[in-house]
Amino acid sequence: MLAAAAAMAVTVPRAASHCFPANTARTCWSCRAARVEAGHSRLEVRKVTYRPPGTEQNLLNEINLSLQEKSFGLIFGRSGSGKTTLLQLLAGLSEPTSGSICIQKYDDTGNPIGLPELLTSQRVGIVFQFPERYFLADTVLEEVTFGWPRQKADLLLKEQLALNLQNAFNSVGLTTISLDENPQALSGGFKRRLALAIQLVQTPDLLLLDEPLAGLDWKARADVVNLLKDLKKHHTILVVSHDLRELYPLVDRSWRMEMGGSLKEEALPV
Ligand SMILES: Nc1ncnc2c1ncn2[C@@H]1O[C@H](COP(=O)(O)OP(=O)(O)OP(=O)(O)O)[C@@H](O)[C@H]1O
Ligand SMILES: [Mg+2]
Repeated sequence: MLAAAAAMAVTVPRAASHCFPANTARTCWSCRAARVEAGHSRLEVRKVTYRPPGTEQNLLNEINLSLQEKSFGLIFGRSGSGKTTLLQLLAGLSEPTSGSICIQKYDDTGNPIGLPELLTSQRVGIVFQFPERYFLADTVLEEVTFGWPRQKADLLLKEQLALNLQNAFNSVGLTTISLDENPQALSGGFKRRLALAIQLVQTPDLLLLDEPLAGLDWKARADVVNLLKDLKKHHTILVVSHDLRELYPLVDRSWRMEMGGSLKEEALPV
């Protein structure tokens, strides 16, 4: 029913600023484009430095990070240290000045299999801080199908997206809401669920979340933490957050971003 409604939806192009997997192509690096397969793959960020074009100062300095698939990583650190900047690089919204962002497969004995593969922006979903501020549509259905192909020739793709949508709504527990509902009328927790579902429709290999608990009341925060616990079973999740205590039970690896853009692996100080 949900999938059928989505497949029939008339769509409008989504604004570039909306929280949707970016289509920015990564152009270089020594990796090849490919999808993360099940098994023993890791996201590997290798010596990534970032200096915005036309500026004199690095925002990120030789960042190294490794995160196994279907695990939960958390980056914490002071405001202005560069956490969101790093997420933007991982999502392909800007390009590293140097270094690489790859997926490396390993065998059971820990030896790398083949060459590292490029993590393309199409394989990454990013949910920005306060994603509900970027909702544009009047109904949940329009919000989630914004940007879907409109041509008849794309029918197969649309059907696949509709199927993904059904799965995404199931996995974030949104099946009880009406597709005609205004997204702005949803509760805080349900708005975050919707923002996550929009990303999950694209079946990303890596899900990036910037401050997923920010601005929510205690009940919605607990709700989102439980949801992330569920999503972790099937997705690789990297979160930036100041809410260390609440996310602590989910965290497999954590890093502190220090002022000046240096990342150091460190246990959560809770
Ligand atoms: N395009 C840019 N050009 C120059 N400086 C920038 C640019 N984008 C961000 N900055 C600066 O980079 C630093 C890191 O910003 P960023 O938003 O990544 O920090 P953050 O760790 O996410 O902070 P917060 O916890 O407050 O969200 C800040 O000093 C910011 O002003
Ligand atoms: Mg930030």
